Amino acid sequence: MTLTTEEKAALKAPWGTVAPLLEIRGISKSFGRADVLSDFSLSVNPAEFLTLVGPSGCGKTTILRLIAGFEKPRSGRIFLAGRDVTDLAPYRRDIHTVFQSYALFPHYDVFENVAFSLRIRGLEEESVRERVAEALALTKLAGLERRKPDQLSGGQMQRVALARSLAGRPSLLLLDEPLGALDLKLRREMQLELKNIQRRLGIAFVYVTHDQEEATTMSDRIVVLNRGRIEQLGEPREIYEKPRTSFVANFMGAANVLEARVLSSSASSVELKIEDEIDCAVPNSGPASAAPSGRVYVAVRPERVAVHAQRPDDQAPGILARVQVKEHVFLGHSSQVYLKLFEKSRRPFWALCRSAPMNGALAPGQWVWAQFRPEDVLMLEPVERT
Ligand SMILES: Nc1ncnc2c1ncn2[C@@H]1O[C@H](COP(=O)(O)OP(=O)(O)OP(=O)(O)O)[C@@H](O)[C@H]1O
Ligand SMILES: [Mg+2]
Repeated sequence: MTLTTEEKAALKAPWGTVAPLLEIRGISKSFGRADVLSDFSLSVNPAEFLTLVGPSGCGKTTILRLIAGFEKPRSGRIFLAGRDVTDLAPYRRDIHTVFQSYALFPHYDVFENVAFSLRIRGLEEESVRERVAEALALTKLAGLERRKPDQLSGGQMQRVALARSLAGRPSLLLLDEPLGALDLKLRREMQLELKNIQRRLGIAFVYVTHDQEEATTMSDRIVVLNRGRIEQLGEPREIYEKPRTSFVANFMGAANVLEARVLSSSASSVELKIEDEIDCAVPNSGPASAAPSGRVYVAVRPERVAVHAQRPDDQAPGILARVQVKEHVFLGHSSQVYLKLFEKSRRPFWALCRSAPMNGALAPGQWVWAQFRPEDVLMLEPVERT
């Protein structure tokens, strides 16, 4: 088989150059006088698992409802596979939604719950049976066809809701905290199963969760939202390793956020003085030059901080500070050690240690050594105030 130049380019093309499946262009939405979204844009690629995360009330559900057609935008357009669907009724869009509440019909059994929307669409009985069987097999519900929702566990009900959506074979599935009601163990299992099903079927998922670990486990890309705006969009690893703002650093994982003065900067590196105490040179990731105040926020992940009872005699000690222990919390597999980094520190600085020094050395008031590498100092947004 020989490919045309365009086909070769399409095969190699990273996401972003492939035609998006869903395109939200400049949507604004308000309820009464409250603006929830203004000029919001987002693209979802075919077969992509895209997750929206953000604090309660930031607009995640509103975005899903707009995509599904349950809400109308004040302005802006929504395209699905290149077609403007902004004014189409929800059932005419090739989109299904799975809600946290499952919304199953209590008097219907599993089979009829899954078959319902297929029957509404007027599918032949034979196709209905075929599609329901396929969806139940995918969600591991075969054998439970005749059970009613009140004879199912939470996890099984969740699967029925998913099977119902999959049976309609949409090109896009919207999921609003679908695992929110499940206990932690079941949640972890279902995360992997959902991800597997999504990959096998090649359906694009737009997924909403409060749980950052869930977002990291499942997603191709994550959108971090703050008050209706995209704070950062990227692959899970990029969001975690290169957060651009203190909001993202804190929301996706834990972070010690400090202030730093920019002493000098070149294209490749920036000399910083952290909290007027620690000098270090970090890779230049951009924000330093954009800081008219000459100050930026920096973050250090707690798991990147080592705590030593004695001064380490390392050849390359990185950043080393003599610090006082404020509190030590033993977690079993690791320890959280809260430290007073400097005399005038306003925020606690903490370390998450796999192997911390002996308990006695970590009693409150003890002096220990905290150590981290300059490359683990993440440069965030400029400090606005002077
Ligand atoms: N029908 C409505 N009428 C009035 N205000 C609404 C309506 N729906 C949502 N809002 C408001 O819009 C904002 C965004 O709500 P949305 O439900 O999208 O948040 P969310 O990110 O899904 O939050 P959560 O994580 O709590 O589910 C909130 O301030 C909410 O109070
Ligand atoms: Mg919501």
